Amino acid sequence: MSADFAIGLHDFSAATGQYVLTHETLAAENGADVAKYHKGIGQRSMSVPAVDEDIVTMAAAAAAPVVARHGADQIRTVLFATESSIDQAKAAGIYVHSLLGLPAGARVVELKQACYSGTAALQFALGLVHRDRSEQVLVIASDVSKYERGTPGEATQGAAAVAMLVSAEPALMRIENPSGMFTADIMDFWRPNYRTTALVDGQESISAYLQAVEGAWKDYTERGGRSLDEFTAFCYHQPFTKMAYKAHRHLLDHCGYDVDDGEITRAIGQTTGYNAVIGNSYTASVYLALASLLDNADDLTDRTVGFLSYGSGSVAEFFAGTVVPGYRSHLRTDMHREAIDRRQEIGYAKYREIHDHSFPVDGGNHPVPRETTGPYRLAGIAGHKRLYEQR
Ligand code: HMG
Repeated sequence: MSADFAIGLHDFSAATGQYVLTHETLAAENGADVAKYHKGIGQRSMSVPAVDEDIVTMAAAAAAPVVARHGADQIRTVLFATESSIDQAKAAGIYVHSLLGLPAGARVVELKQACYSGTAALQFALGLVHRDRSEQVLVIASDVSKYERGTPGEATQGAAAVAMLVSAEPALMRIENPSGMFTADIMDFWRPNYRTTALVDGQESISAYLQAVEGAWKDYTERGGRSLDEFTAFCYHQPFTKMAYKAHRHLLDHCGYDVDDGEITRAIGQTTGYNAVIGNSYTASVYLALASLLDNADDLTDRTVGFLSYGSGSVAEFFAGTVVPGYRSHLRTDMHREAIDRRQEIGYAKYREIHDHSFPVDGGNHPVPRETTGPYRLAGIAGHKRLYEQR
């Protein structure tokens, strides 16, 4: 049953970490040809959070401007999607709820299914607004992507958060029915509870992603979805930006279309700008693709955008959104560019120090050095509790 009112994205805001490591620096350290990173996987640099930043501080930084613009009175639910969780029991969103002073009369939960759960959160939010159009749902996707140093995955690391306000009669984008879904039990990428870095079978993960694109598209078309020609652009999950090109080429081929590189670039090119310099932000990545598109494309009013969200393991979903007239006056383009530009470039030694840092697990009092210039920080860990503060 579809609602007799539009539901979708009413506001959107993104944040990233304090530091940036370029792929020139990484290549100089590990002896790779930098062209493999720039051209082969389509990455220029990666965001690296400071030691006093994490998924909570990035999420609060992304969500604060949304709450400042719209107030919190209508927010009845906060859905926090992540796969770099900081606690096995408590939802990271509760720290954000506290930092932003959201009302006690709200529910807050955390969702996980690799990079896909941001989309699960968005879809669940649509359902909640469908039930009661007066409610707004704050959807947050925040992740720090981390692989072992010296592994092929290292070049695809990154970090970012997005905050999306889902409401009736949205100002940015209407999200449509149907969705196409696909699930398969595959060990392409995973992170056991005792590890801080992910394990991955790189080539298997690329094949699994492509298989999921086919599966989700098949389900989408069988449920009466739009035809490929109706889309102006496609936002794919971007573990590295070349993956979006691979995926779209695969979809066109699968659907019997001529695979024209110019046409693929037209459909994908403007979605990759932020991910190419931020790296994989897991749950946030497909929505950073949307931010890049909205912030950089000419007028997209009434244009339809396709989304392909993939999370290893694996689950994928294809759905469509149509851009609302007047959307441009609600964008945060300057803020997004500033968040990227203000990052401080670091050398390999500083990156290694941050990458290999871990807090003692002795239950003692461990203050964290001040590094971030962002609005929120992790002040310390004491008695196994994380302590956050506004900077
Ligand atoms: P690799 O073995 O380092 O690289 O792993 P490669 O040898 O496959 O080369 C990569 C590309 O660079 C190739 O292009 C090469 O030809 C090219 P392709 O053939 O694929 O088009 N290349 C060059 N190009 C120009 N000049 C050169 C040069 N040398 C090589 N000199 C891999 C790459 C992506 C596998 C690795 O980085 C990795 O394991 N990454 C992590 C896993 C990943 O990102 N998987 C993507 C799909 S799964 C997914 O998206 C889910 C995920 O986000 C997790 C989640 O859901 O939570 C990861």
